[in-house]
Amino acid sequence: MEILDEILKAFDVDFLSVEDEETYNNIRVKYVGKNGLVTEALKEIKNVAADKKKEYGESVNKLKNLLESRLADLKQKLEEKALKRELDEMERVDLTTPAADQSGSLHPVTITRNKIVNVFKSMGFTVEDGNEIETEYNNFEAVNIPKDHPARDMQDTFYLANGQVLKTHTSASQNRIMRKYGAPLRVIFPGRCFRNEELDASHENTFFQLEGMMIDKNISIANLIYFMKTMLSQVFGKEVEVRLRPGFFPFVEPGFELDCSCPYCGGKGCNVCKKGGWIELCPCGMIHPRVLEMGGINPEEYQGFAFGLGLSRMAMMNFEINDIRVLNGGKLKQLKQVKTK
Ligand code: PHE
Repeated sequence: MEILDEILKAFDVDFLSVEDEETYNNIRVKYVGKNGLVTEALKEIKNVAADKKKEYGESVNKLKNLLESRLADLKQKLEEKALKRELDEMERVDLTTPAADQSGSLHPVTITRNKIVNVFKSMGFTVEDGNEIETEYNNFEAVNIPKDHPARDMQDTFYLANGQVLKTHTSASQNRIMRKYGAPLRVIFPGRCFRNEELDASHENTFFQLEGMMIDKNISIANLIYFMKTMLSQVFGKEVEVRLRPGFFPFVEPGFELDCSCPYCGGKGCNVCKKGGWIELCPCGMIHPRVLEMGGINPEEYQGFAFGLGLSRMAMMNFEINDIRVLNGGKLKQLKQVKTK
């Protein structure tokens, strides 16, 4: 019987020293393993007086159960501790660690925007940011689209409950920019635009434009053409031709659709230009005198041109993306696959 007490005492001491799985296993084997102290103690039954054998046997069993249940508790605690350590490890953020996976990259629209922005900057343009939520005034009235004007139907507008709109075009920033800088000015303003469109491969409800305005004395269509040609040649990295077709936008007069000779095939015809040799790239025109006036600029003294590049479209061309939905799809795998021309 004394030997059982000793085993228990020794177990209590060893028990306290368990720190991990290894020390746990050692004491489990030492006490309740096949050749452990408890088994040894049970074998001792042969030396116990016959009338005490029953009592002795029961005591050994009791001891065995006690030790096993304490070991089971201990095992559970160890597992909880290990789990907690693992979670702590996962949560620990060391901001100074270099990223293990450095394969992240900029979005095709961002890459295209940066490229175009750099060309404009080198030509003395300031880059402005525009609001995504705009007043109806800035989005429409200030660019000569009064209430009930049929041109409002050209753009399916998302109206907010407070009467403001999600800007349908970057032209919504024209008025604020003219008021901010006055004339003369050279500004570009890339931005996200929203229209209530049915989605398909070439229509998105959220897309990017990059608009530009140049206002100075004696600006004419000749400046517009020269400037657009130079700028597009730089953006595409090769000489391109431009041609104008008449186009209607209430905020420009005259207004044009500008086509650019296909920079990818040199005008011979390819998939990007749909074999036509030209791509419809950018509506533009001479800023309407009323728009200048509303922007606080005297149209007798100053003229200017404005253009609205479809930035999402440029990115699609640049990266050979056939479906505009890829751009906002958030599927990184798909975005990573796109390759620049
Ligand atoms: N704001 C026009 C649109 O989104 C594009 C445009 C910009 C046209 C500037 C002419 C001048 O459709």
